[in-house]
Amino acid sequence: AAIRYHNWEVRYEYKSPDCYQKLVITINGQTPGPTIEAQQGDTIVVELKNSLVTENVAIHWHGIHQGLTWGKDREVVSGFECDQRGTPWFDGVAGVTQCPIVPGDTFVYKFVVDRPGTYLYHAHYGLQRVNGLFGMIQVSLPPGVSEPYTYDDEKSIILTDWYHKSTFEQATGLLSIPFGWVGEPQSLLIQGKGSFNCSTPGIEAKLCNATNPECSPYVMTVVPGKTYKLRIGSLTSLEALSFEIEGHNMTVVEADGSNVEPFVVKNLFIYSGETYSVLIKANQAPTRNYWIVSKVVARNSTTPNGLAIFNYHPNNPTTSPPTVPPVGPAWNDVEPRLAQSQATKARQGYITPPPEKSDRVIVLLNTQNKINGYTRWSVNNVSFNLPNTPYLIAVKEKLHHVFNQSPPPNGYDHRHYDIFNPPTNPNATTSTSIYKLQFDSTVDIVIQNANALPANDSETHPWHLHGHDFWVMGYGKGKFNIHKDPKKYNLVDPILKNTVSVQPYGWTALRFRANNPGVWYFHCHIEYHLFLGMGVVFEEGVKKLGKLPPSIFGCGDAKVSP
Ligand code: C2O
Ligand code: CU
Repeated sequence: AAIRYHNWEVRYEYKSPDCYQKLVITINGQTPGPTIEAQQGDTIVVELKNSLVTENVAIHWHGIHQGLTWGKDREVVSGFECDQRGTPWFDGVAGVTQCPIVPGDTFVYKFVVDRPGTYLYHAHYGLQRVNGLFGMIQVSLPPGVSEPYTYDDEKSIILTDWYHKSTFEQATGLLSIPFGWVGEPQSLLIQGKGSFNCSTPGIEAKLCNATNPECSPYVMTVVPGKTYKLRIGSLTSLEALSFEIEGHNMTVVEADGSNVEPFVVKNLFIYSGETYSVLIKANQAPTRNYWIVSKVVARNSTTPNGLAIFNYHPNNPTTSPPTVPPVGPAWNDVEPRLAQSQATKARQGYITPPPEKSDRVIVLLNTQNKINGYTRWSVNNVSFNLPNTPYLIAVKEKLHHVFNQSPPPNGYDHRHYDIFNPPTNPNATTSTSIYKLQFDSTVDIVIQNANALPANDSETHPWHLHGHDFWVMGYGKGKFNIHKDPKKYNLVDPILKNTVSVQPYGWTALRFRANNPGVWYFHCHIEYHLFLGMGVVFEEGVKKLGKLPPSIFGCGDAKVSP
């Protein structure tokens, strides 16, 4: 296995990703940042210099377990065994696993990529992800091991949404009375490129230039007749997306690093924090180009569709396709989205069956609430706040005063709570308390969606778990029934993922083994929901960890390593 070194400098720069100029955060001058390419078992070293000057930073390696790979869950997948120690302190979440990196400092992340697949990285501090601080991690199989599908070449893209307002203004609005919601994004970007209409009234001409090469559409060039593996990741701040390539079917083969029993889609639904690989055959008339389209679903959005060009070689890559771009599916049609989620199963021959029973069930009611007049998002009517001393340090060093030691609620009052209407008592509390999981136990999480504050409104939330994959046991509509619904769980071939959606007024059930010593965030991947409290933290086996690295100290009550 190799050690792969990366030297990154993070800074603000003016860029025009959708033709409108604004400050973005770059890594070595780029957004999306450089792709990390590695082979299973390699060690990644990222030396990160914070040149943001007035802001802290931290980067999370999304989908990477930082773990010991104990137990059998993963080892069997490709015959690869991990003998490395876990690195839970390099998960990159300011306030959970490390102190933020202050301006001028350099922090070294070092971790093993123990599983093949498509993963992401992104800022995990404040709203920085919104500003473009993210990229992709591609882990290939070791030599001699091949994927269970074939293709001629490989491509990758990251899908995002894009706002013109600064994150300072967004944060200020979100933290104000009256509540200043961020609204719908101005653009959708495909691999960092979009095209805002510069003649929109009120846009200052000198800030928007439709002929700026920075916002020329992203071009994916293909050779007629060839098959491509396309890795797709979504790191939207808000939106759920539908992705399609005009006239071309896509065969889904990977989700969040797991092999999927292949199924064919015309459009792929993808939620923030998810990755997929699809196979695409360039089998249409080669004399023209085709549209690549991303479209907002799950919200009645005003944001125009994102467009890129699927270019058949040797046609001119900049020639727009002769057709009107496909309009995509209806935003409010939940059925095809649910159908895709339910079709996503582990591939035959690559199935890791889940434990048949769990040791503990935690139900998490998803709501929007009020706290002293402020709008928040909550689980079980508790809106989460990060302490200023990282949990990992607080638990390991027994700094009990750092956070509320009483456990958060294991569920909600399901007998009386009406999930189909706005909360009768919208008031919630904030808390810093965390779930302590028994090491190596099997935990079920039921994400229960409900009505938000306005009537007839239930949002779609993509939930992401750090440090683990979970088995997706099932999806359902309405209120989860703890007696009946678990009987319908998929114990045969559930997919292992790290991010999963819960549909409006529905529920999603997950199972995971708490076998990775550390402190792990589990949260909605919508940046603004997370920012306003939609998350919980799990702790397991921290006692088993050796000395914490001094570099994660330096804040709150953890100024220096003991
Ligand atoms: Cu990609 Cu904690 O998130
Ligand atoms: Cu959410």
